[in-house]
Amino acid sequence: MKRFLGIESSCDETAAAVLTVTTEQQKEVFNVASNVIYSQTKEHILYGGVVPEIASRAHMEKISSIITKALLDAGTSLEEIDGIAVSSGPGLMGGLTVGLMHAKSLAQALNKPFIGVNHLEGHALTAHLTENVSFPYLLLLVSGGHCQFIYVESLGKYETLGGTIDDAVGECFDKVAKMLGFPYPGGPFIERSAKEGDDKAYDFPLPLQHKGLDFSFSGLKSAVRREIEKELHAVGEEELSSTSILKLESATIANISASFQRAVGEILAIKCERALQTCGAKDLVLAGGVAANTLLRSRLEALCSKKGVLFHAPPLNLCTDNAVMIAYAGALRLLEGEASFLNLSAVPRWPLDDLKTPNHI
Ligand code: KG4
Ligand code: ZN
Repeated sequence: MKRFLGIESSCDETAAAVLTVTTEQQKEVFNVASNVIYSQTKEHILYGGVVPEIASRAHMEKISSIITKALLDAGTSLEEIDGIAVSSGPGLMGGLTVGLMHAKSLAQALNKPFIGVNHLEGHALTAHLTENVSFPYLLLLVSGGHCQFIYVESLGKYETLGGTIDDAVGECFDKVAKMLGFPYPGGPFIERSAKEGDDKAYDFPLPLQHKGLDFSFSGLKSAVRREIEKELHAVGEEELSSTSILKLESATIANISASFQRAVGEILAIKCERALQTCGAKDLVLAGGVAANTLLRSRLEALCSKKGVLFHAPPLNLCTDNAVMIAYAGALRLLEGEASFLNLSAVPRWPLDDLKTPNHI
């Protein structure tokens, strides 16, 4: 049996995991031995979004104990680990550096191979591990930091078919939620409030609906703001603030939430249909924190069944940021004899299409 340690700290989750690999009937069988995630929500809640400085500090405070817990949960020790994989980009420079420094020191002290993994490759390969989806497939990654289509052809062969030109979809949920007076992260609050509302109450725009596979959410966010301001004026408030928003009736808030959520569902479905037509994939994988949204999920599930495409969504704790996906992407490469040098540095911007540079040897 081989054991791989994965480390993730590219945004606001400090995570470590151990993945084991055994060979059964000449096939490699992977098993998640542990999966530990510390989410920094409470560190960032006051600011309504991730603050890079605070994130780096929190990663630094937590990372050693998270790694220790991952080893304990897996019933193993550092000496028994056969290789170390770490997110080396893309993401926030400070957080990435914390993870990378830890991985490198462990690799050097224990004389074990280590590899820097593209965080997006981790997301791209998760369904291959958890759902046994075979290549090729289309991934729609929707979270607070990502919003993109990735065509996953095979290990190491990825094509970004489209992405957001401004905000990520989760970021848009969070910003609209903040305007409506909900705490961070606001996606789940919008979903809950939308259940009580009329999704046709407002007709929000569907940016870039007629064109290509890129997304744009800042226009939708501004349109929501304008409608909120109109409603505020109607109750005698001059401008939108955390106190004036309390003057709106909960039915109005619910109608705005529901109409906003419907617009996001429509735009995702339109773009997914176009992306499936473009790449011809027979499997669609939905991943990222926004995949928790039941309305969005069922919208895309319905589209897939209409198109004869299989819909997959990995379990939520493996489709949001985690270290299992990093251990998996790293293990596949380490098992092929690939590794990184110890002078590897973090890469804050690193498109998935560009995997050969600058990190892999
Ligand atoms: O993947 P994730 O946990 O973390 C990062 O982006 O790093 O995604 C978090 C995002 C947040 O923007 C959050 O508001 C959104 O996912 N989210 C949701 C729901 N649950 C989480 N958005 C819409 N509906 C939800 N139920
Ligand atoms: Zn991510």
